Amino acid sequence: AQISLIGAPTDVGASLAGCRLGPGALRVARLASGLRALGNDVRDIGDVAGPPNPRREPVDGYKHLPEVTAWNHAVRDAVAVELAEGRLPILLGGDHSLAIGSISAVAAHCRAAGKKLLIIWVDAHADINTNEMTPSGNIHGMPVACLLGHGPAELTGMSDQVPAITADQIHQVGLRSVDPGEKRFLAESGLAVYDMRFLDEVGTRRAMTRVLASVDAATHLHLSLDLDFVDPSVAPGVGTPVVGGPTYREAHLVMEMIADTGRLGSLDIVEVNTALDVRNATAELAVDLVESLFGKSTLLRVTDLANPP
Ligand code: ARG
Ligand code: MN
Ligand code: MN
Ligand code: MN
Repeated sequence: AQISLIGAPTDVGASLAGCRLGPGALRVARLASGLRALGNDVRDIGDVAGPPNPRREPVDGYKHLPEVTAWNHAVRDAVAVELAEGRLPILLGGDHSLAIGSISAVAAHCRAAGKKLLIIWVDAHADINTNEMTPSGNIHGMPVACLLGHGPAELTGMSDQVPAITADQIHQVGLRSVDPGEKRFLAESGLAVYDMRFLDEVGTRRAMTRVLASVDAATHLHLSLDLDFVDPSVAPGVGTPVVGGPTYREAHLVMEMIADTGRLGSLDIVEVNTALDVRNATAELAVDLVESLFGKSTLLRVTDLANPP
């Protein structure tokens, strides 16, 4: 693929400072060269710019709304440029509020290109709070609500239409921490949720077969990868860790099965908090996962034999 890396070094939407260091940590973990080794063309466009973290209290239930809005505009515009050039954008976050800008650009692009958009939201959290139900005011807990049209006009209006997406376009995988208001919102919206109990009972492989069942040749898959999806024993460098997540191997299987569809069109890598990490382990895990997502495999596959590199 022709890949573009877009850094967004901010934590204005997060609970704890530190994921502003994520883009640098992912680069130090050799994300670009790992992807190049798999035969991809990789262009690193550097970091987009935005305001510093003012560390203020929430206003009207939103923490740092002007700053979150500014960063999302920058991300939205950068992602749109790369998509228009036929490239596959990878957002290096930064906190998960940045998915508002990233996915708003992807949704507009898919409508213009006549593509069917499916978002796979891989996370310990649902991120579907509103200012009325948020326990924290942190906007990284709100991007799914904003994309579905529930949020401030600044954030719901970032795509070519409001809402940017509909509930049937997003499948959530790995959830294990959902706030009371979010539970109601999820149930009412009918959004497909494959929570940890589902992964335990059905198994990761069969769960992912269901997640990906509707994918066809016209599908643009967007993966929004919050590193707190993975168990904190493997991914310690995140601001909102939740015990009981997938193992290293289970997380890889999720990536490998997405890779097998051949339909990945865009990616967010978010919530890597280097200030909380242990020897960059979480950034290195992210790079390992992304390599699997782009087809790294232990053995040659039949398609490799037919098309030698
Ligand atoms: N549900 C909690 C909140 O709204 C935690 C959200 C964590 N989100 C994340 N992207 N890490 O504050
Ligand atoms: Mn999360
Ligand atoms: Mn998240
Ligand atoms: Mn590696």
